Amino acid sequence: MLRTHTCGELRKAQVGETVTVCGWVDSRRDHGGLVFVDLRDRYGKVQVVFDPSEGADQHSAAGDVRNEDVLQVTGRVVARSAKDVNAKIPTGEIDVRSQRLVVLNKSRTVPFEPSTSNPPNEEFRLKYRFLDLRRPRLQELVMFRHRLTKLIRDYFDRDGFLEIETPMLGRSTPEGARDYLVPSRVHPGCFYALPQSPQIYKQILMVAGFDRYMQIARCFRDEDLRADRQPEFTQVDIEMAFVEREDILRTVDGLVGFLMREVRGEEFPLPLPRLTYREAMERYGSDKPDLRYGMELHDLGPLVRNCGFSVFKNTLEAGGRVRGLCAPQAADKYSRRQIDDLTLFVKDFKAQGLAFFRVTETGLDSPIAKFFTPEEQAALKAEFQAKTGDLIFCVADKPSVTSAALGALRSRLGKELKLFDPNQMHFAWILDFPLFSWNEEEKRWDAEHHPFCNPVPEDVSFFETDPGQIRATSYDLVINGYEGASGSVRIHDPAVQQKVFDLLGIPAEQAEERFSFLLEALRYGAPPHAGIALGLDRWVMLFTGCDNIRDVIAFPKTQKASDLLSGAPSTVDARQLKELSIRVEEAPK
Ligand code: AMO
Ligand code: AMP
Repeated sequence: MLRTHTCGELRKAQVGETVTVCGWVDSRRDHGGLVFVDLRDRYGKVQVVFDPSEGADQHSAAGDVRNEDVLQVTGRVVARSAKDVNAKIPTGEIDVRSQRLVVLNKSRTVPFEPSTSNPPNEEFRLKYRFLDLRRPRLQELVMFRHRLTKLIRDYFDRDGFLEIETPMLGRSTPEGARDYLVPSRVHPGCFYALPQSPQIYKQILMVAGFDRYMQIARCFRDEDLRADRQPEFTQVDIEMAFVEREDILRTVDGLVGFLMREVRGEEFPLPLPRLTYREAMERYGSDKPDLRYGMELHDLGPLVRNCGFSVFKNTLEAGGRVRGLCAPQAADKYSRRQIDDLTLFVKDFKAQGLAFFRVTETGLDSPIAKFFTPEEQAALKAEFQAKTGDLIFCVADKPSVTSAALGALRSRLGKELKLFDPNQMHFAWILDFPLFSWNEEEKRWDAEHHPFCNPVPEDVSFFETDPGQIRATSYDLVINGYEGASGSVRIHDPAVQQKVFDLLGIPAEQAEERFSFLLEALRYGAPPHAGIALGLDRWVMLFTGCDNIRDVIAFPKTQKASDLLSGAPSTVDARQLKELSIRVEEAPK
């Protein structure tokens, strides 16, 4: 070992010892003869003092070191005098007085200092990710991710789950996104698909008798990226045989309780709260509501049915809905122009407009207040138990549009009005999703989750009459407004599987071609089974209070799916393409 101690571990207890530490120069200060260097490693920082009286060579060498040089220092640990103690850092009571300095490596002048409190833009940081990762915050996140992953593994290991790897080079699985394809050299013209998830393989493992499986699995999806999505991400993938929905929920409840205790020292009340999909949409307009605050949606139809505002009346008569929410003490916080901005925002969710009422001492203040009788205004106020200074927003539209627009508005206002404690973590199950959703553009039914999700048995009769009514035995775990996990009880009966494929319009030959290995396995004694997958990156993000998934991944991709550090994706040699029997039609610009 080139060191006896890490930079972060030295304390008063080591005073008097001679130690050797290694690390990066975080900062250097020359003070009339004495040189002070803060030396940093992932365990922390320690101040090293270079005094000419301890040796001229080491002192003059210290004069030449620059930030981010890599040093090895041997010296004596001394206590600082009371006035020099730095209570802000754990090593602040001591110094290392250098007796020997070895510059292990010089650094070029860095494009940005890892110690900066004002880091440069993200693209620049991603290009120099090795420097970015030296920042204490990112080091903390990387270390936390390790710890969380380890705890999750321990939890499942203790419960008899086996970690089993599944192929990266496999067949396309129907998770709904575009596949990343890998050409085969040995089979010209044929491709592997990188897994969107290990879904089919884990079901086959159940058929094979491994009744408790888990895997920390890499997944690949070529989809439009957002702040909480990466093209390459990690799932904690779980599958169990001879279980019902309740067993999966309890297993994950237990995991949440275990993690909250281990990581945050909190005794978390279990079981976690549960809502049906229908209830979530009705009360929050979203299937992943942030439940750290209320501000629920209300149905205003009965109150405004006979009002003088034609937009509301006509919408109701045409079978639409009028719904609204009441933003507490927001009346003064939103100017007319800011409300125009919110109106544009809800238009992104297809709403035609956004009506608003400021709640005053005497009634409601709004350009459209004149269309509502004093009784109607009073009823509106009473519906929300609104107080003076509140701001009521309403949307009149098709039912699904009122949910989408008000759900998004609720989430935006919740953040802008800081309606929640950012340190709180809230977990809730959303149950009974619809099995299918109607794709209006393509006039067909789509699987809401994936085609292997079992219908709720008593809804099977709706296959012929009203497929939109069929509930799935699926469940999502929502954490602070993010979808943190998702799963379902699977179909283990080939006949039911066939019904689902039929409804989705997947012809029997195509189903056989794409999923034959799963369908075949289901015919040879498949046990009832169910599972779930947790989005590990999102869990790390939520446990650490980050709002950018890239901060919790050591080497993430940008919004455009590029790795700026390595320059991937890149062109390849003509020879490589030839070996793969691939001709590129359009040369990149
Ligand atoms: P699903 O597609 O819902 O389910 O994915 C499970 C969880 O993975 C996370 N997730 C993502 N995280 C980061 N970037 C992405 N692009 C991304 N996509 C998904 C989410 C999500 O809840 N095979 C099923 C699971 C099952 O049924 O067992 C599946 O993959 O947190
Ligand atoms: P207008 O009648 O178009 O001048 O709109 C008057 C107010 O009603 C404006 O604040 C609009 O944003 C709002 N508004 C219009 N259409 C709707 C709608 N479908 N739902 C809610 N508010 C609406």
